[in-house]
Amino acid sequence: MKTDFCFPLTSPIMNACGVMDTTWEELVALASSRLGAVVMKTATIRPREGNPTPRYARFKYGSIQAMGLPNLGYKAYIKFSEELKKFGKPVIASVFGFNLDEYEFLVSEFQKSEVSAIEVNVSCPNAGEGIPAYNTKYLDEVLSRVTSIGDKPIGLKLPPYLTEKDVKEVSSIIKKYNVSYITLVNSYPTGLVIGEDEKPLIVPRNGFGGIGGESLKPIALANVAMFGKSMKDVYIAGVGGISSGKDVLDFFLAGADVVQLGTVLKENGLSAISEIEREFMDLLRGRSIEEIKGKALG
Ligand SMILES: Cc1cc2nc3c(=O)[nH]c(=O)nc-3n(C[C@H](O)[C@H](O)[C@H](O)COP(=O)(O)O)c2cc1C
Repeated sequence: MKTDFCFPLTSPIMNACGVMDTTWEELVALASSRLGAVVMKTATIRPREGNPTPRYARFKYGSIQAMGLPNLGYKAYIKFSEELKKFGKPVIASVFGFNLDEYEFLVSEFQKSEVSAIEVNVSCPNAGEGIPAYNTKYLDEVLSRVTSIGDKPIGLKLPPYLTEKDVKEVSSIIKKYNVSYITLVNSYPTGLVIGEDEKPLIVPRNGFGGIGGESLKPIALANVAMFGKSMKDVYIAGVGGISSGKDVLDFFLAGADVVQLGTVLKENGLSAISEIEREFMDLLRGRSIEEIKGKALG
């Protein structure tokens, strides 16, 4: 299966950043799977242990997490990208900076590495003060710093936006810069799930956490559709609540160019990939992805 993205892919299904992609062993497992590309865990300058546990939980309608960006630090991921080359599929770095200088530094370091693209995470709900992308002035500044360094495609991992007006405003900022693709969406920033013990399911952030899985899907689909309408030239990676072939189909029908699996990989492991792919191929009924892209919206 071939599809257009900002680089060639053998499958339009990837992992979502941050799930099963932190250690070398996890990355090798992903690289050996049927995924079309591997996204590595969001890297910060220094390694981080992340928040106290429990910091991830499954609930009836999805997942809640406040991981706090546990990662091995950018140097480890630069080294992994060199070694992952032998698996022959694109490897994407993800970076998070606690200020503008950190974003610029991390992107310039990965520009010198073996990765195929660099995804700038401006949407982490569990690190730093607020969500960078919700501050449009700051988003503009981040983009002006990171898009003029090097030739590798720059992706942008965005949080869910609430209205078409928000999407238009953010799109007009992104359009000023050389952004190759946007990944829609990161976890819904603040949810609360209370367990049978009458306490929040997770410990950090007083129990608040980012919501993924089933509850996120309609929100993610709407973001894909809204950005697809306002930014015709940018590739879109759709993510949020995909756990079946029908979910994948829906994201393409809403206008995504590729899709990513998060919570479902965490819950069901690698076997989810081939199952979802098989179900999706059946639902395609011989059509190409190009034929169905954006078709739900006419
Ligand atoms: C345990 C966990 C860790 C995550 N870590 C990151 C991360 O480091 N960087 C990032 O951009 N997104 C991160 N995400 C968000 C996912 O990439 C994805 O956008 C979100 O979970 C929605 O997809 P899903 O509904 O398939 O889970 C994380 C999600 C989960 C569940």
